[in-house]
Amino acid sequence: MEIVICKTKEEASRLAADMINAAVKKNPKTVLGLATGSTPVLMYNEMAKAVKAKKVSYKQVKSWNLDEYEGLAPTHNQSYRYFMNENLFKKIDIQLKNTHVLNGLAKDLDKECAAYEAQIKKAGGIDIQVLGIGSDGHIAFNEPGTSLTSRTSVVYLTPSTIKDNARLFFNGKLDEVPTRALSMGVGTICEAKKIVLLAFGENKQDAVKGMVEGGVTQFCTASALQMHPDAWVFCDEAAAKKLKLRKYYAWRSATKLGLKA
Ligand code: F6R
Repeated sequence: MEIVICKTKEEASRLAADMINAAVKKNPKTVLGLATGSTPVLMYNEMAKAVKAKKVSYKQVKSWNLDEYEGLAPTHNQSYRYFMNENLFKKIDIQLKNTHVLNGLAKDLDKECAAYEAQIKKAGGIDIQVLGIGSDGHIAFNEPGTSLTSRTSVVYLTPSTIKDNARLFFNGKLDEVPTRALSMGVGTICEAKKIVLLAFGENKQDAVKGMVEGGVTQFCTASALQMHPDAWVFCDEAAAKKLKLRKYYAWRSATKLGLKA
């Protein structure tokens, strides 16, 4: 796991966007796995800037999102489909028909999840998976206690995730946050060829510590990324603060990226 530690979340977002833009330039048919939440928004803005400046094109890119709430229509302003349209898809030249988000309204949710896995497989698998991390160490909606080999399925949110999501979205209204969601599994995520995880702010310190320097455990599902051969974590100094070897990680990753450490 490579840990890139930047002074600010703006700088970390820029570097992460550079990595994705470079991959898309190299392979215009890149298959992306995408995340929602507050964390990737700055990176999505950087990707949009590069498209606007004609430095890269997402015309042939296909994407699959990590998760979606159960019961929310794609037009609901808190649905993840809506979020993606507003925060990324409308701002870049990706074709909407090439973007995929789980359908939280599907009649048969298990069938929806199995079909999603099949679609990803048919596309040749995910080349780069974008991730945030929950304050409890979750990736996608894989909460503590989820098998590290799990596949896309219906999942149950913890009270702490419901609280975090109500704080940032849903106008703070706890009882409006759905308690179930459809989510790619940890096993599904770990099959991506490359991982780009973003983590910002003090609220993520414990999760980042657990992911990077804790044991591999289903109590911090992000720790499964320790087994991934090409996982990159872009964080700010606040999120990295509890890492014992943070100076070493910063030096190593900056050297690998050709930056001044
Ligand atoms: C979003 C997702 C979640 C978030 C995580 C962090 O699609 O899968 O795992 O990445 O909950 O959320 P923020 O970025 O809002 O702190």
